[in-house]
Amino acid sequence: MPDNDSTQAGKNFGIGIPQKSDGFFLKGSAHIDWGIKARLSQIFCPKSGRSVMLAFDHGFIMGPTSGLERMDLTIVPLIEYADCIMCTRGALRQIVPPTTRKPLSLRFDAGSTILTYLNDDVLMDIEEAIRCNAAILAVMVAVGDTKHEALTISNLTKTVDLGTKYSLPTLGVTAVGKELVRDARYLSLATRVCAENGAHVVKTYYCEKDFEHVTNACPVPIVIAGGKKLPEKEALEMAYRAINEGAAGVDMGRNIFQAENPAAMIRAVREVVHEGAKPDAAFKMYEELKRQC
Ligand code: R5P
Repeated sequence: MPDNDSTQAGKNFGIGIPQKSDGFFLKGSAHIDWGIKARLSQIFCPKSGRSVMLAFDHGFIMGPTSGLERMDLTIVPLIEYADCIMCTRGALRQIVPPTTRKPLSLRFDAGSTILTYLNDDVLMDIEEAIRCNAAILAVMVAVGDTKHEALTISNLTKTVDLGTKYSLPTLGVTAVGKELVRDARYLSLATRVCAENGAHVVKTYYCEKDFEHVTNACPVPIVIAGGKKLPEKEALEMAYRAINEGAAGVDMGRNIFQAENPAAMIRAVREVVHEGAKPDAAFKMYEELKRQC
């Protein structure tokens, strides 16, 4: 039987102080479930609202991509500098130490490679994603791909349905086919389609002109893929411009793990994303770190 302590004087009921009811730091997620918010808060830093995601899921379509031949040697040392890792369940179990303590963006679809026609994909089991301790489920969405648009949008909506059961957010990954132009008009359409179909975060490419139109018309955070390897300074400039034009972070692969010094590069990218470093300063930092290790 509970004691009658509650009737005693001296308790602090905070009379006159309204209960705190904070908003949420990421756009588009104010009204969603606690578990999804908690997972998004592992991926995005609540202080800066940004994230440096390290992508090394390329092997699921491209095989042993340059820089990923021995992920135990090249990727594992970078993990400590990432806010989140993005990989397949295979790579996770084969090379990522379970002691890592970094949230996982799990590649949740598979089914085709660069040898055939990309994006003819099916989804994994949601129970498997939970076993992998996924923090977010990443699925390809091929807007404008006449063969696979319907399939991939259906994959996205199914992923949102499955993830919502277990409070797992979804990352819509816009796959831009070779025949499509990566301009603001296309990217606005593709990212908005992902958000409207329930994606909590969208990954897309940066475009030189009117990227603010893409980020402003997308009601959830956008992270940019790095794309093909650029000279390090150009990659830092791209990250800087993307962040300043409204991106909430990067989900970068080749421009980190194919850099001359990948550890120095991811640290320089962090400086841009979280500290707002200008490209010149970030590149100077990269050069200094490169000399040190
Ligand atoms: C593409 O299939 C994957 O989702 C990659 O993770 C993505 O393209 C990001 O890697 P990168 O920065 O090398 O473009």
